[in-house]
Amino acid sequence: MTVVAIDGPGGSGKSTVARRVAASLGFVYLDTGAMYRAVGVLAHEAGLDLSDEAAVAAVAATAALRFDDEGRLFAGERDLSAAIRTLAAGEAASRVSALPAVRRLLVERQRALAAGGDVVIEGRDIGTNVCPRAELKVYLTASANVRSRRRYDELTASGHEVAHDEVSRAVEERDRRDTTRAVNPLRKADDAVEIDTSELTLDEVVAAVERLARERLAR
Ligand code: DC
Repeated sequence: MTVVAIDGPGGSGKSTVARRVAASLGFVYLDTGAMYRAVGVLAHEAGLDLSDEAAVAAVAATAALRFDDEGRLFAGERDLSAAIRTLAAGEAASRVSALPAVRRLLVERQRALAAGGDVVIEGRDIGTNVCPRAELKVYLTASANVRSRRRYDELTASGHEVAHDEVSRAVEERDRRDTTRAVNPLRKADDAVEIDTSELTLDEVVAAVERLARERLAR
């Protein structure tokens, strides 16, 4: 069992890089942010106050979240993979992910999924908390400007109508919340390799992470 952990803020390129590296290594790809997004969406739909820890944790405990073979996220039989990709879902995810009881439940599930085989797992606290013994830890960063631009491009490409400054504000607010929360905030693990992706193409980042992964696997 080999674990490649990729952490970083939103818009650092994590998801695309993790997916492509997983495909090229023949590993399973695990997107932990999708799980927080799903809990945020379900709690919001249920009309819950997103700071009500017990109520939101009950949603996380009963949601029966699972990924199918194509990486689509389901709650029971319901495919949530489109609903979790909106700006509002990201916002809700960031709020519910600050609740310790929600994190405990999802982290437990993530560890069980990661124990199932060779995985590339991405999130905010993978190298520091979910998989502290990962064979390779990568921390991706990019300037706030570049990250807002990428998030904006992603949202508009998937048909969402958003203003660029609305996205920048949301990115800043999320950074603030994700790095300052009390439990497992976004932080580079001491033994993670940091890559600033601001000036790199996606192909360059994928190649760099793949090279690191193959070096570690060869040991
Ligand atoms: O990577 P993403 O945009 O899908 O993540 C959505 C939110 O979920 C993010 O703002 C913080 C939270 N998150 C987390 O707290 N821990 C993780 N391992 C992954 C995501």
